[in-house]
Amino acid sequence: MRLEGKHIVLGISGGIAAYKSAALLRLLIKEGAEVQVVITPNGKEFITPATLAALSGKPVVSEFFAANTGEWHSHVDLGLWADLMVIAPATACTLAKMATGVADNMLITTYLSAKEPVMVAPAMDLDMFAHPSTQRNLDTLRGDGVIVLDSPSGELASGLEGKGRMLEPEQILEKVVEHFESASRKDFAGEKVVITAGPTREKIDDVRFIANHSSGKMGMALAEEFASRGADVTLVCGPVEGRKPVDARVKTVKVESALEMLDAVKKEYRDADVTIFAAAVADYRPEVAVAGKIKREERGPMTLSLVENPDIAAEMGANKREGQVNVGFALESDNGLQNAAKKLDAKNLDLIVLNPANRSDAGFNADTDIITLIGRDNMKEEFPLMTKRQCASVIANAVAKIAR
Ligand code: C5P
Repeated sequence: MRLEGKHIVLGISGGIAAYKSAALLRLLIKEGAEVQVVITPNGKEFITPATLAALSGKPVVSEFFAANTGEWHSHVDLGLWADLMVIAPATACTLAKMATGVADNMLITTYLSAKEPVMVAPAMDLDMFAHPSTQRNLDTLRGDGVIVLDSPSGELASGLEGKGRMLEPEQILEKVVEHFESASRKDFAGEKVVITAGPTREKIDDVRFIANHSSGKMGMALAEEFASRGADVTLVCGPVEGRKPVDARVKTVKVESALEMLDAVKKEYRDADVTIFAAAVADYRPEVAVAGKIKREERGPMTLSLVENPDIAAEMGANKREGQVNVGFALESDNGLQNAAKKLDAKNLDLIVLNPANRSDAGFNADTDIITLIGRDNMKEEFPLMTKRQCASVIANAVAKIAR
């Protein structure tokens, strides 16, 4: 019984694959889960609530009010009760309503008040699945953190063949079990993980500086992911306004400039097991940082003389001990794979995360990212658009696989 004590909301929308939901429900119950079914009005055309109620041992929720008593079904309470919501099948219509918040049935209101992670198993014919509007909705949902059960990594290149068909109940069950296993995994227990994050500020004078648009979001997502997996995490973070990891276990060292970041990293690196360089360190700093404020009338035409900053990742890479794992990032606008592979070598990294510099939904400042992991021995793994926390999870999985 791999799902003992787990509370699952099973959402069913109106597709022909709804007949398979009964099998999925039985599998979930057999593994020990408690399941509350929420079905859309259309779903009931494909499978009867009586069947689902008998299998789950609970009345099926479909209307906002119970027909016999007039009692209001609380989607908010369901959200608090559930550990996971699985919507299978998720039709094109339900995905569209989820993506835009059209709360005209119990399934969507339950989704909108869900506090728990949500998985969807899309089910429709290939044309509907391939339509740009469905793909856009799926991207939106991925960006909102929804786990989409249909495009395993690496399969995207092979086109859309077979896509749109709902995963089989047994496959969905395995995804659910995996989800709970990974949520309770402590595979970094006892390890020290150091992460750099955010931009650096290079002083021109006491009021002006050179910086960049890095938000620190990826570094923070990584810090939270590793902390949740049992690591002892130190985040060396450049200036990010009003943002810090919510996980109290993360120790944060605040720095401003690249030189300060280097000092802090050097101290932490000695006994680090894993170090991740997610910061966007300024490559140059003004040769002199003027005390006070440079006055306009003193200035005239002005040239800033810049000197190179140290490459923190490369310096640590040059001093890497046996057993230490170093991970870098490559934000690239073109020739990403070649450039990332070069940086992997030049900085003596074990893994590099390539992400695009020219999209608004990925890379700098976005909440989502599109990453490719490149490692030693020609290891390469591409992922679709995901939240930065989901990216952090697959990065941690890849680090866990590196031999130490
Ligand atoms: O060479 P490039 O700046 O593209 O390399 C990016 C990687 O190197 C990132 O992991 C970044 O955090 C790290 N880096 C660093 N110190 C620098 C420049 C980059 O640690 N001065």
